[in-house]
Amino acid sequence: FGTVVAVDGPAAAGKTTTCLALAKTFGLRYLESGRTYRIIAFEALQREIPVDNAPEITGLCDELIEQSRSTSLLTSERYASAELRKKPVNVAVSAVARIADVRQRVTSLIRLWATTHEHCVVEGRDIGTAIFPRAAVKFYLTATPEVRAMRRVRQERAESYENVLEDVIRRDDADMSRKASPLVPAADAITIDTSELTVEQVLHRMSSTCRS
Ligand code: CDP
Repeated sequence: FGTVVAVDGPAAAGKTTTCLALAKTFGLRYLESGRTYRIIAFEALQREIPVDNAPEITGLCDELIEQSRSTSLLTSERYASAELRKKPVNVAVSAVARIADVRQRVTSLIRLWATTHEHCVVEGRDIGTAIFPRAAVKFYLTATPEVRAMRRVRQERAESYENVLEDVIRRDDADMSRKASPLVPAADAITIDTSELTVEQVLHRMSSTCRS
């Protein structure tokens, strides 16, 4: 692989905003890996496949990869982001993401994608630990659940603070306790607690690390 910047962390820690800005500053391709898990969860809901049925969800994953001719599933524009961020998908995605066979397929797709984009920034939960353990730079962005929920409420305005906080805490638990690639900072990741930092301050820290 070329240069990979790996950015991991819990829900709504500010990964997308900072990764997009970093990508712009350094001319990197950007990939949001969570979107793929959301697409699989969305399709499962559409087809009424129970999201905890591992063999069926894995079969669905294979079908989607085949249909979209491999890596383009990762960036497919067939799905509106607003649709993928609705509550039913937020709830279903954790079950989909705990299926080891699904994670293995998404991992292969992302690695394949990276071979065609020499310099990239990839965000998710397992990028620095499982997908690119030898990434050039690794960040782990975090913040208190309350701060993260508040940011998401401001960003999406769709749900109450209490509902969003509940979702954030539930997904944190699911991400950190699953067996396959649980969410933990990579040993060599730079952890940034963004609770009391502005986007500019976070970006400044990330950019300085990337330059050095
Ligand atoms: O944007 P937000 O932080 O809310 O979540 P996301 O990045 O869209 O990811 C949605 C879900 O996919 C997460 O709650 C994780 O359970 C899962 N995910 C994962 O397991 N591994 C990744 N590399 C990315 C996302």
